[in-house]
Amino acid sequence: MKASCVRARCAGERVKAVRLIFLGPPGAGKGTQAQRLAEDTGVEQISTGDILRQAVKAQTEMGKRAKACMDAGQLVPDEVVIGIVRDKLGSGDCANGFILDGFPRTTGQADALGAILLDFSTPINRVVAFTVDDEALVARLCGRRTCTGCGAMFHIDYAPSKIADQCDRCGGELVQRDDDQESVIRDRLTVYETSTRPLLDYYSSRGLLTEVSAGGSVDSVYAALKEAVAT
Ligand code: AP5
Repeated sequence: MKASCVRARCAGERVKAVRLIFLGPPGAGKGTQAQRLAEDTGVEQISTGDILRQAVKAQTEMGKRAKACMDAGQLVPDEVVIGIVRDKLGSGDCANGFILDGFPRTTGQADALGAILLDFSTPINRVVAFTVDDEALVARLCGRRTCTGCGAMFHIDYAPSKIADQCDRCGGELVQRDDDQESVIRDRLTVYETSTRPLLDYYSSRGLLTEVSAGGSVDSVYAALKEAVAT
């Protein structure tokens, strides 16, 4: 079956769009929702943030290059992330579809993505923009804890693990991300406003954008997301 014909079943409902971009400020819930939709539909979640953090941990050349930008809450250079995404989209992992979580973040990245997808004849079905007010974002990010073993995400107040600092899924250690300090979070929000927010108009003018209000519970946002990608 051609990728363009793929349809996935999700919780008993038809989900039409499985080549998706998730946009939104840090903490909007892109990763949380992408992880859930990817599990339900069997498509690949491509998180440039996760891939970069793995590279930093493994101390690869790319990781060394990215670390200073990430620690400061700034964007990693376009050519680095475009290369990551080109490799992932060209791999067999994405044959059934994909969710781009955290990419593109600049108009340069969006233009490059358009060219890559044209090469692969796999256009984007929908761009989902998650919206949440800034103070709620800061509270979400300050309380986030991530498993060093499996990458599962928790929140000390909104989604606590059963045992403090221990992952419910794999028993791994839960840690706070280096860039989840409040001063860095505020810098990331500024970078979002200047570099990434323009993509809302970019995709809206192409008839691809749907906004999802993401200030509610994880379950209510997921319900709104499924509706958004089914139409
Ligand atoms: P990245 O890892 O992509 O971080 P981000 O975009 O800042 O997004 P976050 O992961 O912080 O937030 P999210 O929206 O995924 O929210 P989440 O679901 O985790 O990027 C990190 C860095 O890498 C960048 O700063 C940059 O340096 C670099 N980078 C990455 N991509 C790049 C690119 N394309 N170009 C250049 N540089 C790039 O949720 C957050 C917390 O809230 C969790 O604790 C969660 O449990 C909780 N939560 C989620 N939903 C809800 C809800 N509905 N109610 C209550 N709590 C919730």
